[in-house]
Amino acid sequence: MVQIAPSILSADFAQLGAEVVALEKAGADLIHIDVMDGHFVPNLTFGAPVIRDIRSYTTLPFDVHLMMTNPIRYIPDFIRAGADMITVHLEANDDIETLISLVKKEGKKVGLSIRPSTSVSRLLPYLPMIDMVLVMSVEPGFGGQSFIPNSLEKIVQLKDLIGRKKVQISVDGGINDITAPACKLAGADILVAGSYIFKHPPYATQIDKLKRA
Ligand code: DX5
Ligand code: ZN
Repeated sequence: MVQIAPSILSADFAQLGAEVVALEKAGADLIHIDVMDGHFVPNLTFGAPVIRDIRSYTTLPFDVHLMMTNPIRYIPDFIRAGADMITVHLEANDDIETLISLVKKEGKKVGLSIRPSTSVSRLLPYLPMIDMVLVMSVEPGFGGQSFIPNSLEKIVQLKDLIGRKKVQISVDGGINDITAPACKLAGADILVAGSYIFKHPPYATQIDKLKRA
């Protein structure tokens, strides 16, 4: 069954601890945490201290999506703060193999993300080294955007490239009850959803709808 990773980008930042508790109760499988630096994407969110402070509110894995230039500098901080999986962008300006080995050395899972304009074939050299690919189905930076349809084709191509390797496919952006079944059919293992869950509570109903999609 597909796993649901609510993105706390659309949560109430004034009560993030309570939001994370509510998501766990509502049946979330992972907590997706969007870190934005105002350079790699035109928006800012938060850094490691916020992640550290919400860590004690749930035992769910933290899936930390780093939308930043030079993530290498901050990866140790995010791991110390409680990240279980670190996802960096293939387009970030650090050496990708170095990033992967830094995360793995700490015993954490590692993901690689691609923007909508990046071709899945660029992931090929790294597939044997990673746990997950995060396919961005919107331009990274903001919640509430519409799903870009050709992302489905990218998921199918990626599934084919992955073959028998143990790499999960996660899809991020514009996930709702229409796009979720299409992503699942294309081969997605994890669906990241922000506004679909937070803008139409109760969270449990929304998570359930995505799971059963
Ligand atoms: C966007 C973020 C997403 C975002 C998705 O750059 O990576 O995780 O929260 O939001 P929705 O589900 O509203 O498209
Ligand atoms: Zn994200």
